[in-house]
Amino acid sequence: MEAVTQLLKPATDYWLLTDRFKDIEGFLEPIEGYALHTMAAFGPGKGEIVEIGSLYGRSTCYLASGSARNGRGGVYAIDTFKGSKEHQVGEQGEQTAIATDGSTLKIFLQNIATHRFDEKVKPIVNESSKAASEWSKSIRLLFIDGDHSYEGTRKDFLDWSPFVPESGLIAFHDVTTWDGVTQFYNEISQLDEWKEVLAVGTIRVIQRLPHGESE
Ligand SMILES: C[S@@+](CC[C@H](N)C(=O)[O-])C[C@H]1O[C@@H](n2cnc3c(N)ncnc32)[C@H](O)[C@@H]1O
Repeated sequence: MEAVTQLLKPATDYWLLTDRFKDIEGFLEPIEGYALHTMAAFGPGKGEIVEIGSLYGRSTCYLASGSARNGRGGVYAIDTFKGSKEHQVGEQGEQTAIATDGSTLKIFLQNIATHRFDEKVKPIVNESSKAASEWSKSIRLLFIDGDHSYEGTRKDFLDWSPFVPESGLIAFHDVTTWDGVTQFYNEISQLDEWKEVLAVGTIRVIQRLPHGESE
């Protein structure tokens, strides 16, 4: 039965994480969260995890739980916490917290505290491009889920990808469901220095190839 127990382990982990984070609002499917968790726990490389676009902390918690699982580093959560264009009052994805407080930061911090990730998660309340201009560390996993326009996705990639070394990963959310993200992803994933290594739900992950090993 040992083999059966081992084979069931990922399914059990998935189910436990789904239950653990089900109360955190957000735009991430459980299987996508599980993919982030697994990359944070077992993904290649050394360096930080950086998330652009945290909202209420749903993806942040999946990343933090993965990193904590294997005693790896922190998760930098970069967000203005003022919501994207589509979250503003009168828009299709209007968020109550934005309408009432003008910010999702309070709920984000509550969620991080509830799940005991205060030590693990380091919020950076700033525009992504400004945060990038003050950044200097190496990033092993960059999760891009901020401004979903083509220009916004492109800017996040251009600002942050220089910090992702060989073997490092960049995960994009909403590829196939948001035109701007999809258009940019289709362009970037064709470049010689990057290779698509994972596709789960609307998450697509590219890895920086070692210099001279483009395919
Ligand atoms: C789709 S939500 C993120 C969802 C989140 N990852 C989850 O798991 O539910 C996008 C977030 O990106 C943030 N954002 C958009 N443009 C930004 C920018 N230029 N700089 C920083 N944050 C930005 C918004 O405030 C919003 O919280």
